[in-house]
Amino acid sequence: MRLVILENAEAVADFACDYFVDQLKAQPNSILGLATGSSPVALYQRLIGANQRGEVSFKDVTSFNLDEYIGLAGDHAQSYRHFMNEKLFDHIDIDKARTHVPDGAAADPNAECVRYEKEIQAAGGIDLQLLGIGVNGHIGFNEPLSSLASRTRVKTLTKSTIKANSRYFDADEFQPTDAITTGIGTILDAKEVLLLATGATKAEAVRGCVEGPVSAACPASALQMHQHAVVVVDEEAASLL
Ligand code: GLP
Repeated sequence: MRLVILENAEAVADFACDYFVDQLKAQPNSILGLATGSSPVALYQRLIGANQRGEVSFKDVTSFNLDEYIGLAGDHAQSYRHFMNEKLFDHIDIDKARTHVPDGAAADPNAECVRYEKEIQAAGGIDLQLLGIGVNGHIGFNEPLSSLASRTRVKTLTKSTIKANSRYFDADEFQPTDAITTGIGTILDAKEVLLLATGATKAEAVRGCVEGPVSAACPASALQMHQHAVVVVDEEAASLL
């Protein structure tokens, strides 16, 4: 695992943008693993700018997102499909037919998990997987005590994750309690992994990820076993290292 500590969130986003641009220049038809949450937003803004300036192209890229809420269709404003369209896909030259997010409205969520995992394998696997980290150390929606060998499946969210993500939902709005998430095993199969974390609220999770024992108690600690994982944090997120 390579750890990169930078001054602030802007520098983290700049680093991540350069990393993605280098990947796409080296391999224009990359299979990207993408993430939601606030952590990747500044990166996505930079990638949109780079794409619009003609510095990088997504026209041959395929993408697979990590996760989706169960009970929300892709056109729901709180769905991760909607998030990705709004924050990235609608503004770049990617072929939307090659962007994949699990279907949170599938009649049979377990079957959807099997289908999604197979689709990733059939595409040839992820070249570069982007990750954020939950305050409890989750990656994707692999909550603490997830199997480190897990594949795409349904997970019930912990109370702390539901609380942390409640900031995106109105008080009287339905907030899902379950999600489809690619597994820790799925994530570890990616050729490269780039995890971004900024701010003091992530400091404990970052410590577990980087310095803690490899343990299902901190799912992100599984990245210690990955040959090409890069953890990029700002000084606040690194404050407990
Ligand atoms: C969500 C997502 C994760 C994300 C995490 C942190 O629960 N499923 O993929 O990394 O929360 O989100 P944020 O970046 O907003 O702190």
